[in-house]
Amino acid sequence: MNLMDALKGRRSVRRYKDEPVSRDYIRALLEAAETAPSAGNLRSREYIVVTRPHLMAMLAAAAYGQSQLASAPVLIVVCADPIRSGRRYGDRGQLFSIQDAAAATTTLLLAAHDMGLGACWNGAFDDDMVREILDLPDRLVPTAIVSAGWPDENPAVPSKRDLTEVVRWETD
Ligand SMILES: Cc1cc2nc3c(=O)[nH]c(=O)nc-3n(C[C@H](O)[C@H](O)[C@H](O)COP(=O)(O)O)c2cc1C
Repeated sequence: MNLMDALKGRRSVRRYKDEPVSRDYIRALLEAAETAPSAGNLRSREYIVVTRPHLMAMLAAAAYGQSQLASAPVLIVVCADPIRSGRRYGDRGQLFSIQDAAAATTTLLLAAHDMGLGACWNGAFDDDMVREILDLPDRLVPTAIVSAGWPDENPAVPSKRDLTEVVRWETD
């Protein structure tokens, strides 16, 4: 797939067919995510892959009842590791680890689209509940729960702010 076509064609997909996503596909998504840039190449991010239905139901509850978390064949919880990044970068490391995780999440979403999968970045959830459900170590901050599966909807292109609203040119 041409990269610009992929960028423009990717949508947040929240409805999935009732078909599993094989481990090979999941592994390919994770390998793609790990191609993303990373501050100092510290790769201060980790992933938890969840397909156990009872955990997915609990994560959906932690995400304020968002049903795509319970109905997706797979969830990938992307976590930042600010301690790892902070060891080299101090306070700035907090931000870097979140950016590392965000870069990986975006890359994972694009890879899913390229592979014909549908996926959605879910960021609205109760951190403490997610930590408890997944028994996360204290050093990890969950930043996104990506729901993914074979798409069962074709969402419309959402509205975007015009470039003139979001860009200032300081050029001659
Ligand atoms: C930081 C972040 C948090 C998001 N959280 C949620 C969420 O909790 N639930 C959801 O359905 N979509 C969530 N989204 C997806 C956005 O709603 C979606 O990207 C936006 O509406 C634009 O649509 P598009 O991805 O199809 O271009 C989130 C996206 C980002 C970047």
